[in-house]
Amino acid sequence: MTSITVVGSINADLFVLVERHPLPGETLLGRDGGISAGGKGANQAVAAANLGATVRMVGAVGTDAYAAPATEFLSAAGVDMSDVATVEGSTGLAVITVSESGENTIVVVGGANTAVDGDFVASRREAVESAGIVLLQGEIPASGFSAAVRLATGRVVVNLAPVIEVERADLLAADPLVANEHEAGLILAQLGVADVPASEEAMASALTELGFASVVLTRGARGAVVAEGDQLTPIPTPSVDAVDSTGAGDAFVGALVHRLAEGDTLVAAARYAARVGAFSATRRGAQGSYPSSTDALPDVD
Ligand code: RIB
Repeated sequence: MTSITVVGSINADLFVLVERHPLPGETLLGRDGGISAGGKGANQAVAAANLGATVRMVGAVGTDAYAAPATEFLSAAGVDMSDVATVEGSTGLAVITVSESGENTIVVVGGANTAVDGDFVASRREAVESAGIVLLQGEIPASGFSAAVRLATGRVVVNLAPVIEVERADLLAADPLVANEHEAGLILAQLGVADVPASEEAMASALTELGFASVVLTRGARGAVVAEGDQLTPIPTPSVDAVDSTGAGDAFVGALVHRLAEGDTLVAAARYAARVGAFSATRRGAQGSYPSSTDALPDVD
């Protein structure tokens, strides 16, 4: 089986459930709250491992009390944690508000994730070099991102969320680049495109014209678009009653990479990933909302 190494963030998510998001300067009473496991890297690792993928995590947590809840699901999902370091200081932290309509706002403090730089990744060389797929996001330093791309001998999949400044050649190694509409616009601007196209299809095409071998442009509840060369394929998503979209995009990416590791085409992997993302949105939180291989996924109407 093709192995996956995720070089990315591990966070503790501090979440509160609110009727609506607060306005600047406003104090609101929340309905509930708590701590759960998060971080885009860890979320995607857990999503893939829950579905049966062989996953190694390269990352870091702090010496504080948040390290344990942040890694609970990684361990339970069977992710190889031997390349996760404990560094002096705080674990990555995300402060999340989830509204009644299921939408969220997220503010992330990097904490230990900022230690995952070029030297750190080079010290975990074997985990990256030996992977069939290396999966990256934007919650580690750009030097760590670049080191991972350059050490990779397998396929590189990038979900540049959040969008950070990275070397052009390193970013173009992504196959696919996975981005939502907002991120795609920022990436196009980073790559020097002055007039960012309005439609998602045109954005996906503009990205492949810049040199990406493939692009998956995600559209939340409206599915996704896969671009390969000049071929565009719309990907539908099941309609579900969403309660919390936190980490649903990460569920999509983890499932996509799992299916790519199994040998699916990108279009087939994206169709499956859309169903996993929709499943995740019907449950609260990130990693706790991800399906296992035995869960029934929602179908497209
Ligand atoms: O994509 C959702 C994730 O973003 C959360 O789990 C939070 O930790 C932030 O990284």
